[in-house]
Amino acid sequence: MKVTVIGVAGGTGSGKSTLVKRLQEAFRGDDVATLCHDFYYKAHPELTYEERTKLNYDHPQAFDTQMMVDHIKALKENVPIEHPVYSFVDHDRLPETVLVKPSKVIIVDGILIFENRELRDLMDIKVYVDTDADIRLARRILRDVCERGRTMQSVITQYTSTVKPMHEEFVEPSKKYADVIIPEGGFNSVAVAMLIQNIRSLIDRN
Ligand code: CTP
Repeated sequence: MKVTVIGVAGGTGSGKSTLVKRLQEAFRGDDVATLCHDFYYKAHPELTYEERTKLNYDHPQAFDTQMMVDHIKALKENVPIEHPVYSFVDHDRLPETVLVKPSKVIIVDGILIFENRELRDLMDIKVYVDTDADIRLARRILRDVCERGRTMQSVITQYTSTVKPMHEEFVEPSKKYADVIIPEGGFNSVAVAMLIQNIRSLIDRN
C-alpha cells in the first residue's frame, strides 16, 4: 500500500487542529491516521512539576523528533507503531501508548514539523496555516485556561518569554517549506475544498 503523508504546520492557536479535523472527515473512507508532533514531547523524569512548567516547549529540542521520523517511516512500510501520549496538564509523558495501524493517509501536525529536514522530506504535501498573532494568542489563552489547566498570567508569561520568540526564530521561517499557505486553516472553507481536491488526486495517483 502506498502511503500519502500530509503535513500541517503553523503557529500555536493557528487552527491546525480544525484543519486536521476537516481532512480526517474528507478522507475517512481512505483510512486516515493522525500523528501530532505534540505526542512526542520529551519526558523529563529528573525534573519536578514546578521545574517542568518552566521549560521551553517551543524549541525544536523539546521534541523527540527522531522517534516521530522512525514511526512515520515504519507506517510507510506498512508496519504498525505505538505512539507516546503526552499530558499538557502534567507537562509529562503518560505511561500508556496508542497503537496506530498502517493507513493510506497519514496526517502529521505540529508547530515545528517543517523545521526538521528529515521529517519534512517524508511529507507529500506540506500545508502551513497562517493566522495573525493576536488571534492566535487570544485562542491560546482560552484553550490553555479551559483545557490545559493554566492561569491567564502563566499563559501570557510563557507566550512572551518563549512562545513568541521561538515562533519568530523557528516556526515562521519554516513557512518557506510549505507547498500551500492557508490563512485561518480549517475555518477557510474555500481553501479547504481546494486542498481536499488536490490531496484526492494525489492519493488516486499513488
Ligand atoms: N506546550 C505547553 N506545555 C507543554 C507542552 C507544550 O504549553 N508541557 C505548548 C507549547 O508552548 C506550544 C504548544 O503547546 O506552543 C503546541 O500546541 P499548539 O500548536 O498550540 O496546539 P494545537 O492544538 O496542536 O494547534 P492549533 O491551536 O493550531 O489547533
